[in-house]
Amino acid sequence: MDNIRLKIHSVICNLFSVTEDQLTDSTGPGQLAKWDSIGQLRLIMELEKAFGIQLSVDEVMSMNNIGDIVQVISKSSGDPESEESESTTEQTKVVYHPVRVPPQIFWGKGCTSALKSVLSGRVAIVTGSSDYVVKIQERLAVELTDRCELMFIKRPSGEPEEIGCLQISRQLKDFAPDIIVAIGGGSTIDAAKLARLIYENPEIDLNEISGLLESIEIRKKTTFVAVPTTYGSGSEVSSAVAITKTGHTGKTILVSHEILPEIVFLDPSYGVDASDNILFSSAIDALTHAVEGYVSLVRNPVLESLAGPTIRDILGALKNIVSGEDRYHSIEKLCYSAYYAGLIQNHCSVGLTHSFAHQMGTLGLSHGIANATFLVPVMKYNADKVDSYEKLSHLCGLSSAEELIDSISEIVKATDIIPDANTLNQILGKKEQIIAGAMGDITFQTNPVLLSRQEVEIVFTNTIHGLLST
Ligand SMILES: [Fe+2]
Repeated sequence: MDNIRLKIHSVICNLFSVTEDQLTDSTGPGQLAKWDSIGQLRLIMELEKAFGIQLSVDEVMSMNNIGDIVQVISKSSGDPESEESESTTEQTKVVYHPVRVPPQIFWGKGCTSALKSVLSGRVAIVTGSSDYVVKIQERLAVELTDRCELMFIKRPSGEPEEIGCLQISRQLKDFAPDIIVAIGGGSTIDAAKLARLIYENPEIDLNEISGLLESIEIRKKTTFVAVPTTYGSGSEVSSAVAITKTGHTGKTILVSHEILPEIVFLDPSYGVDASDNILFSSAIDALTHAVEGYVSLVRNPVLESLAGPTIRDILGALKNIVSGEDRYHSIEKLCYSAYYAGLIQNHCSVGLTHSFAHQMGTLGLSHGIANATFLVPVMKYNADKVDSYEKLSHLCGLSSAEELIDSISEIVKATDIIPDANTLNQILGKKEQIIAGAMGDITFQTNPVLLSRQEVEIVFTNTIHGLLST
C-alpha cells in the first residue's frame, strides 16, 4: 500500500502544484488552493489514468481525503493489505467546497437602471445582435455619457467561436476598458468572458488550452458585469466558457473561477419580448443544469438543496407560459431559477445530456434544444442505475423518479422545441463524431453512471430513433 500512497501523492503533487510534505491522510478538497470541486473531478480522472482503473460512483463519493483515496485505490487495484487497515480511515470527514458566487447581484424588474451606479471610467459594452440591442444602446448612451467613456461592441451572431472572441479581444485591446459589460444571452456573455480572458492574458494560445485553466489570472485590468437577457445558460454565475475552436466540431470548455463575473444584474423585464422558442429552450437548459447538477458525481450538499425548488419553479413557469397564464411572473421565476440552476451547475458540473449537447453546435442546433432532445432519455437510462433521481423527485414534491421524468417529458413535448425529422436524421448521420466528442467532453466524467462506448451508442440511437418514431 505504501507504493500506492506514494503514487497517489505524486499525482496530487503534480496536479495541485504542492510538495509531498504538505500532504497527510486527512488532506482533502478545500485544503489545498487548487483542490476544489473542479480539482476533485480532475483528480479522479488523473487517478483513473495513473492506475488504469475505472472508479464506481460509490467509490468516487467515498473519497473525502487522501486516506480514503488510498483505501479505495488499494481495493480497486487488489492490494491485500487494504482490508486490514480499513478501520484506520474511520475518522471525522471534513470536506470543504467553497461556494463561489458573484460578489454583487442586482435583481428585480428594471434593476439595470442601477448600472449607472456601478459604471465609471472606460466601459466596453458587449452585446448580441438582436433587435433589443438598439434600445439598450440608446438608453445607456443617454444615462452614462456624463460619467463614462463608452464603446459598444456587437459580437457575431451564433454560438461563441474562436474567431469572433479574438475579434472582440482586439477591440478591447484598442479601447483598454476598466469595465466590461456583457448584455445578452449565454453565448454573448461567454464570448465576452473569453474575450476578456484573452485581453488580460494576450500570451494565451487558445489551441493549447482546454478544461481546467490552472494559474490563470484575470481581474487585473477589468471588472466584468453580466446582464443576462435570456434565462437558462447561467453563464452569469459560471466559472466556465464554452467555445468552438477553429477547425474543431464540438465545444471546448474552459474552466477557472477567475472567469466568474463580479457583478450580475438579474432583470426579468428583458424576457417579456422574448419569443416562446427562446424562453422554452433557455428554460430547459436551466432545468437540465438543476437535474444533472443534483445527480452528478460532484457533490455539494449546500447547493443540492436548491435543486428541488428550482426544478419545481421551472416546470411551473413553463406550464404557465405554454397555457398562456401569468406570463410575466413566470418569466420572472425563470430569470431567478436559471441563476440558481447555474449556481448548481457551476459547483456540481452536469452529465451526459450536456456531453451530447456540446456536440450539436455545428448542426445549427441551439444548446437548449439539444438538451431538450437528450434530457429525458438520459434521465431514464441513469435512473435505472442510481437512486439519486428518486431522492430528487422527493425534493421536487413528487413521489418517484418515474413521476419526475414523466413531468419533464410532458413539458418538453408541450414546448414543441424538439428538432424535426430532417434535423434528427442529420444528427444520426453524425453518430460516430457525436459519440466520440461526447465521451471526450469534461461533463461525461461527472455523469452519475460511467458508460462504455457501447452504452453511449445505445442511449444515443435509442433517443434519436425514439423521437423519429413519434
Ligand atoms: Fe447548459
